[in-house]
Amino acid sequence: MAKKTSAIIDEVFAELSSDKRNIITNYLTLLFKWHKSNNIISSSDNEYVIKREIYDSYQFSKIITGATFTDVGTGGGIPGIMVAILKPDKEIVLLDRKSNFIDFLEIVKHDLSLKNIDIIQQDFFDSKFQLNTEVALFKNFSNKKIAKMDFEKKLMYMIGTARCSKSVKKVYMLTGTPVLELSKHFVEDYTLTVKKISSPFFDTSRYVAEVLL
Ligand SMILES: C[S@@+](CC[C@H](N)C(=O)[O-])C[C@H]1O[C@@H](n2cnc3c(N)ncnc32)[C@H](O)[C@@H]1O
Repeated sequence: MAKKTSAIIDEVFAELSSDKRNIITNYLTLLFKWHKSNNIISSSDNEYVIKREIYDSYQFSKIITGATFTDVGTGGGIPGIMVAILKPDKEIVLLDRKSNFIDFLEIVKHDLSLKNIDIIQQDFFDSKFQLNTEVALFKNFSNKKIAKMDFEKKLMYMIGTARCSKSVKKVYMLTGTPVLELSKHFVEDYTLTVKKISSPFFDTSRYVAEVLL
């Protein structure tokens, strides 16, 4: 039988307060329920999602710094909702172009009484649009426009778009091993630093890339 969400949360986030664990459990209960009818996350395996997506988002939240953040292409709020729960004194904008995700995030904001999030339905590539936070966050951002580009070109395009917004000073990406294979030019031109997130649950690690603009 599948383990209960609250039992997995208690195991994975044992170092957090019971208040925080309750909020995370409430968020994930909504996420898994909504996913059944609306298909909004990459896997229907709750334990996998918690140990991979949510645990990595937790580690990501501990690494990133800044006052205001936009989670670009937030989908079901990953990693933005975890950032909002773990950094209640910071402002988080959750940005997605699809109403399916926006409707779900409005329910989460209401049911969890999250005061520090704004939800915006918007196309990030719309040339008239400007982010108005200090930091842009990306995790698994995918879009037709960049789908066929190689990893380095994709990053250049995403960073280039974020740079058009005057407020954005820093970009963070929660990503995989391809970030270790970027060219020397890229690393120098973009003042890129990379930190590894070690997972106690999986052999493969994810990485946090920071780019200063
Ligand atoms: C693969 S999902 C990743 C969702 C989430 N970040 C995660 O890791 O689970 C990519 C998300 O980016 C959104 N997206 C794609 N292109 C976008 C654009 N131009 N502007 C805003 N959101 C976009 C999609 O609607 C989708 O929710």
